[in-house]
Amino acid sequence: MLSDIQSETPPENLAALAETHYFAANPPPKDLEKHVALARDFIDYHSAKGKRLVLITSGGTTVPLEKQTVRFIDNFSAGTRGATSAEYFLEAGYAVLFLHRQFSLLPFSRHYSHATDCFLDFLREGPDGSVVARDEDAAKMLHVLRKYRDARDRNMLLLLPFVSISDYLHELRSVAQLMRPLGPRGLLYLAAAVSDFFVPPDRMSEHKIQSTDAADALKKSTATSTRPTTDEEETFDNFDSSPAVPRSKSLVIDLDPVPKFLKNLVEGWSPQGMIVSFKLETNPAILVHKAKYSLDRYQHHLVIGNLLSTRKWEVVFVSPGSQDRWIRVPFRKDGVESSAPVADEPVDPNSLPDGEPEVEIESLIIPAVQDLHSKYIWTVEEKERGA
Ligand code: PMT
Repeated sequence: MLSDIQSETPPENLAALAETHYFAANPPPKDLEKHVALARDFIDYHSAKGKRLVLITSGGTTVPLEKQTVRFIDNFSAGTRGATSAEYFLEAGYAVLFLHRQFSLLPFSRHYSHATDCFLDFLREGPDGSVVARDEDAAKMLHVLRKYRDARDRNMLLLLPFVSISDYLHELRSVAQLMRPLGPRGLLYLAAAVSDFFVPPDRMSEHKIQSTDAADALKKSTATSTRPTTDEEETFDNFDSSPAVPRSKSLVIDLDPVPKFLKNLVEGWSPQGMIVSFKLETNPAILVHKAKYSLDRYQHHLVIGNLLSTRKWEVVFVSPGSQDRWIRVPFRKDGVESSAPVADEPVDPNSLPDGEPEVEIESLIIPAVQDLHSKYIWTVEEKERGA
């Protein structure tokens, strides 16, 4: 049992033990080797040119309930932060390795892939049955298309998908380790919404969890066990009291905590890269405290705090030895301008205008991160020169 070994292990070895155990118990995604080969070529190409490279993680991770997965737990993230940030990092000259949830938003195509911005709405039938952009959309589309083509043609953008929490962690570990040759020019920007709980494989049902007792004779015990409905519910079971109708069951799910691998990332996987994590909360009263706690616990370089309800309007930078710095998009409501773009406490969500901000907050976040990254590279290189 892992817990028996843990009680006898010095705390400094616990992170390594958790890593060995997790990666042995949770199988890698089937495309890992292919992704590693693509990532290695991409990283080596830019490393040889002395370029800066950012690994962006983006979108939510799923928590499968069955090995042959029919059902899974998911979270809200659409990958907007990651996909938007990727465009601004490219603009700042970074090569971008975009590790994203499959089918979440992607840089450039994000402008045309959302349900409210279906790409077909931007097209019309041209002469001779051709398809062309509508006149009013053509200029913006051309602008986006040129930037996309430029990133692709210059090999500046690599897209690697993941789905589940274990896919994500396997991919993150492998890619982070490949980034070592970049030294301090490697930047890890962890914007994915990572699951905190999961069903360990040894307690996961192989097949689709049954919702009735029709297959009970074949049932094996699993973490995601089902139990019969209560007597009261039975009255309405399938809206039919006939004994011939299989009885419905409720589902009880027992989740384990996902090990926190940020420490392993900082100390082992990518010890020289600059590591930026995001901290998401819904309660403004605890955001900065939790961001500082994360920084203190993992000893990395920057935590960007954001609140679910205001994440497109403001974020807070928390980094060692610096004052907390709020970055806010300028806005106007009822004819009143917002306070200065850099404020020192969370904005009141009621003071925000309806709809989306006019300015993408990533256009302010990325230059600020770039600035800190430049200082980080300088400090590491100075140390090396002095050593
Ligand atoms: O995609 P959008 O809709 O635009 O939303 C963007 C966002 C809100 C998801 C993004 O800005 C953000 O905050 N991402 C981080 C969300 C998150 O996972 O927060 P957390 O507090 O649960 O985790 C904090 C950090 O710990 C993260 O860097 C995460 O990578 C890391 N972590 C989390 C869980 C885990 N088991 N191990 C980890 O290392």
